[in-house]
Amino acid sequence: MARVFSGIQPSGELHIGNYLGAVQNWVKLQHQHDCLFCVVDLHAVTQPYDTATLAQRTTDMAIGLFASGIDPARAVVFVQSHVPEHAELYWLLNTVTPLGELERQTQFKDKAQRQESVPAGLLNYPVLQAADVLLYEATLVPVGEDQLQHLELMREIARRWNTRFANGFSFPEPQALLSTAKRVLGLDGQAKMSKSLGNTIALFDAPETIWEKLKPAATDPARVTRKDPGNPEICNIFTIHQGFSPPATLTLVAHNCRTAGWGCLDCKRVLADNMIAALTPIRERAERLQAEPRRVADLLRAGAAKARALARRTMTQVRRRMGFLEAADQGGGAV
Ligand code: TRP
Repeated sequence: MARVFSGIQPSGELHIGNYLGAVQNWVKLQHQHDCLFCVVDLHAVTQPYDTATLAQRTTDMAIGLFASGIDPARAVVFVQSHVPEHAELYWLLNTVTPLGELERQTQFKDKAQRQESVPAGLLNYPVLQAADVLLYEATLVPVGEDQLQHLELMREIARRWNTRFANGFSFPEPQALLSTAKRVLGLDGQAKMSKSLGNTIALFDAPETIWEKLKPAATDPARVTRKDPGNPEICNIFTIHQGFSPPATLTLVAHNCRTAGWGCLDCKRVLADNMIAALTPIRERAERLQAEPRRVADLLRAGAAKARALARRTMTQVRRRMGFLEAADQGGGAV
């Protein structure tokens, strides 16, 4: 079985963009591969953030993953900072990472532009991401297109480490597993869906909230009056439909849009029903987990223990290949 690794930032709120773009696919992958899914809190601190809410956002993200159907008996779900080997491998990989490649990353350039003082951690973000994946010798990395450049750099880092240090042990070069889902935009129909932009439908939103948010949401901008025919291909609401409605409904919706047989509100009512049907069991599972914080902590502790056992094995190999003096008394480090 191939090993899969992916990470998600602890934004706190899992929204339908994350769900359709990533998490739904993770739920499928756990039946086909050996999967690790990580809440990447160490990545989250590379940009200004609120220390008072980080822990809760981390827990909430984990609850979102479990509630969405990631089964802790099938996939390893854990918090990045609970496995200190991520930070250790990150440091070692820094020594084989070309600075020029880091400076060329478009995500770095975008984020750096928005900050007055740029921390080195923002520059080195992709090195930590490489450590995440290589630590488990994962070969498949489900990501969106925005991560392809990071993946390419990750492969370069693996090759450089292997060229310099491999001897019996080497890192496999991970492949991106591109999500086939069409990207959902925010309800404004402009920017990507993101909590900080306030244009989301959260996975845990109540049915009334879902409807209130859908009602004013952007559709095909050419559809000004009720009688104008629309084009589902360029309508963000139709993209969301594709995530929640069965094929027969999609055909019907598309037809009634193109012929102006339905108005946008008619279309949204059908969508709301389907979304509410899909999301209600997720919200109910989340509410049960929210009422049991100890259980969530236990699940995350068990996840970190499984991840750490794998991470330690890799680190023993890496330290040896890089020539470090073995510590006399490092419990769990032996292979
Ligand atoms: N950078 C990724 C994102 O913002 C999150 C991430 C961190 C990740 N480590 C990873 C994704 C390792 C895949 C593999 O979406």
